[in-house]
Amino acid sequence: MKFLITGGAGFIGSNYLHYVVNKYPEDIFVCLDALTYAGNYNNIKSLEEKNNFKFVHGNITDRELIDDLFSKEHFDVVINFAAESHVDNSIKNPGIFLTTNIIGTQVLMDASLKYKVKRYHQVSTDEVYGDLPLDRPDLLFTENTPLHTSSPYSASKASADLLVGAYYRTFGLPATISRCSNNYGPYQFPEKLIPVIITKALQNEKIPVYGTGENVRDWIHVHDHNIGVDMIVRNGKIGEVYNLGGHSEKTNLTIVKTILKQLGKSEDLITFVSDRKGHDLRYAIDSSKTEKELGWTRTYQFEKGIQETVNWYLDNQEWINNIVSGEYQKAYQKN
Ligand SMILES: NC(=O)c1ccc[n+]([C@@H]2O[C@H](COP(=O)([O-])OP(=O)(O)OC[C@H]3O[C@@H](n4cnc5c(N)ncnc54)[C@H](O)[C@@H]3O)[C@@H](O)[C@H]2O)c1
Repeated sequence: MKFLITGGAGFIGSNYLHYVVNKYPEDIFVCLDALTYAGNYNNIKSLEEKNNFKFVHGNITDRELIDDLFSKEHFDVVINFAAESHVDNSIKNPGIFLTTNIIGTQVLMDASLKYKVKRYHQVSTDEVYGDLPLDRPDLLFTENTPLHTSSPYSASKASADLLVGAYYRTFGLPATISRCSNNYGPYQFPEKLIPVIITKALQNEKIPVYGTGENVRDWIHVHDHNIGVDMIVRNGKIGEVYNLGGHSEKTNLTIVKTILKQLGKSEDLITFVSDRKGHDLRYAIDSSKTEKELGWTRTYQFEKGIQETVNWYLDNQEWINNIVSGEYQKAYQKN
């Protein structure tokens, strides 16, 4: 089978590619990525030597390029990881979120219909469900929880999900959607909580924590997310939504303290900053449908996963330095 993987130079997409390119040598994976500030060619450079992998530089909103690519490559499967993904950026500049996350999804689905792909998969997020109260640990998001978004980011992802549902129902697009909780692991751009903590702590810089740090996220190792996406794409039922969660709720403050402890750094580095506008209180996912129907389960306990992740950043300081210096943006041209 031939796969189009959009956004494969980003955090989750690059981890996905490392997993599947090696696991399925008989399948071919074409990565399309615009290499925005969040895309890092260094994340996937080592895959170029594999003969079942190819990189294409391009934007999912570019109809002409997408049509041309689909007409030449005859994809069987399209997995859309590409997105503007940082909530804080969506509060400063919502427009690009609407363009990439909504229009980009439409462009990909139009081409998928025209060239009759067998499966279109939308990588979505638990943020489309909004948030849960802190004092009701019994409540979890299920696939039937109504969409109720807080940020322009989550609103753009929810809009895309609704469009995917509409293309399935109206045009018969063979589509599936996965909604996952907060990911951690290697190759995460150092704007997100965990790599921010690690990079700042290593430089003995203050670590900003929103509000009182009591907001709760359900953390999942990126590899477990990707195992789930792979299972859904290969065995999930067309027209269905599948939740993927870490079953590992932690406050932001706990995350910061855990990492500081592992790095042997003082908690004095923590500095509380004014809260994010519209900050979601708690996310928690019920993944029992995916577990029962597809046999998906997590391979990582948080304690082991976070230790491995911190070690990965310690062992890959050049990867971080390249981002901090901006050098990573030249990696593709250099190749
Ligand atoms: N990070 C999380 O915790 C999380 C959790 C659940 C779901 N998701 C979803 O998973 C997907 C991947 O997230 P991530 O954390 O890897 O994001 P990321 O920001 O690290 O990577 C996004 C990638 O998409 C590319 N891209 C952006 N705009 C593009 C465009 N217009 N055309 C082509 N490529 C473009 C970027 O260059 C980058 O390589 C997103 O759809 C996100 O909504 C993320």
